[in-house]
Amino acid sequence: MEIRPGAMKKVHIKSFGCQMNVYDGQRMADILGEQGFEETATPEGADLILLNTCHIRDRAVQKVYTELGKLRDIKNAQKAEGQDTRIIVAGCVAQAEGAEIQRRQPAVDLVVGPQAYHRLPELLEQAKTRRTVDTDLPIDDKFGHLPAPRPQAIRQRGISAFVTVQEGCDKFCAFCVVPYTRGAEFSRPVAQVMAEIERLAAAGVQDVTLIGQNVNAYHGEGPDGRIWGLARLMYRVAEVPGIHRIRYTTSHPRDMDDDLIAAHRDLPQVMPFLHLPVQAGSDRILAAMNRKHTGDEYRRLIERIRAARPDIALSSDFIVGFPGESDADFEDTVALVDEIGFASSYSFKYSPRPGTPAADLGQQVPAAVMDERLQRLQARIEHHRQAFNHAMVGRTVEVLLERAGRHPGQLAGKSPYLQAVQIETEANQIGDRVQVVIERAGSNSLFGRKAGAPNEPVQRPSTPETSARPASSKELAA
Ligand code: 5AD
Ligand code: SF4
Repeated sequence: MEIRPGAMKKVHIKSFGCQMNVYDGQRMADILGEQGFEETATPEGADLILLNTCHIRDRAVQKVYTELGKLRDIKNAQKAEGQDTRIIVAGCVAQAEGAEIQRRQPAVDLVVGPQAYHRLPELLEQAKTRRTVDTDLPIDDKFGHLPAPRPQAIRQRGISAFVTVQEGCDKFCAFCVVPYTRGAEFSRPVAQVMAEIERLAAAGVQDVTLIGQNVNAYHGEGPDGRIWGLARLMYRVAEVPGIHRIRYTTSHPRDMDDDLIAAHRDLPQVMPFLHLPVQAGSDRILAAMNRKHTGDEYRRLIERIRAARPDIALSSDFIVGFPGESDADFEDTVALVDEIGFASSYSFKYSPRPGTPAADLGQQVPAAVMDERLQRLQARIEHHRQAFNHAMVGRTVEVLLERAGRHPGQLAGKSPYLQAVQIETEANQIGDRVQVVIERAGSNSLFGRKAGAPNEPVQRPSTPETSARPASSKELAA
């Protein structure tokens, strides 16, 4: 369909939660692009507003309802001006709450779950006449129905991209809603993944993160008709011209097999950064969480990974206050954090999720105890993060320059260890991989100069720093 620019309708997409939601949001933008919608950065003035939601913790769900209240006001205000606005709720809250969303917020026109959004055009049509809910879970190969992103859309999104290769989870950790909201494990066939990555590379993407709720359980059908694991897929991705950096997230310790560890040793494109959530340090709590490994098994695994790739940086997720967690259990978590020395980590207070086994356990930990534990844990995590960042000062690292910095003459990019790095350069070098001498570690960014460049001052006290946290490891579970 040829779309005249004047006829373009506007869609505002807001994604909460994990990288898979970012990816899904982009794919929904691609679908809606084919229907004549262009993206707009604000909800005001949009014909369609799409909230792509997260259900992982209760607070994330509350945010959605607060946001929907604001959107209802915008919808009403626009109606008074003669503009129709439709509101779609997608993502994991859509899956989990279904029609309840429209009961709580009648301004919502359409509720569509994460496995049904390829049907958006027909659902939107249906929603013109009645409120519509589609939360079908079985994966009727959604991916096979998605339009390929246009080169222009890829370029606008930048030189790093997420690619979903696996979705859903069969692990059933006792606290986690993912197996219920995203469904059973599903791996995209290798050929489909490769076609997408080749298309991204052809439009200038250099850095891909293969994503999945439990990505290292990937077992996709290969072109040879056999099942390929994640390592084999990564060897293939590393052959794509233009793809210089490969990461994957989020992984489960039990699915780190020898081939995957060897890929860290053998493939220069695989970045030396691994998000490998352990969740807790106490064997008793790990068992209650149904993680199916002990603290020592995790430690031994890290030793094997470090033996393969000595400079690898690690990050993890932690939950404090899982039901029954005693002071001694919590101390085991702190001890593990101090022992491994993670480059960064996310930590959360346990949030009971309806329908998960842990929600029905007794011995819920009092809120005040959780607060105190979280504070202590976060202080240790921050200590190690700062130590890791400060240890970079004086080192030369490759930085992939991705965008303009905060000030004229600054460019921002990422180190192999997923740290944000700012350099001063007059040249337009976005897309270049440059060797940078790190001169200073701020609280959230590293600052440096191109190796070989004169030693100019790089310190700007008023510079707002962009985050050096591993943004791409945010929230996916495993
Ligand atoms: N409460 C708190 N944190 C949770 N996570 C998953 N479920 C819960 C829950 N019920 C955390 C885990 C996971 C990350 C994405 O979110 O640490 O790895
Ligand atoms: Fe699966 Fe991860 Fe949730 Fe465990 S925490 S059930 S591995 S998605």
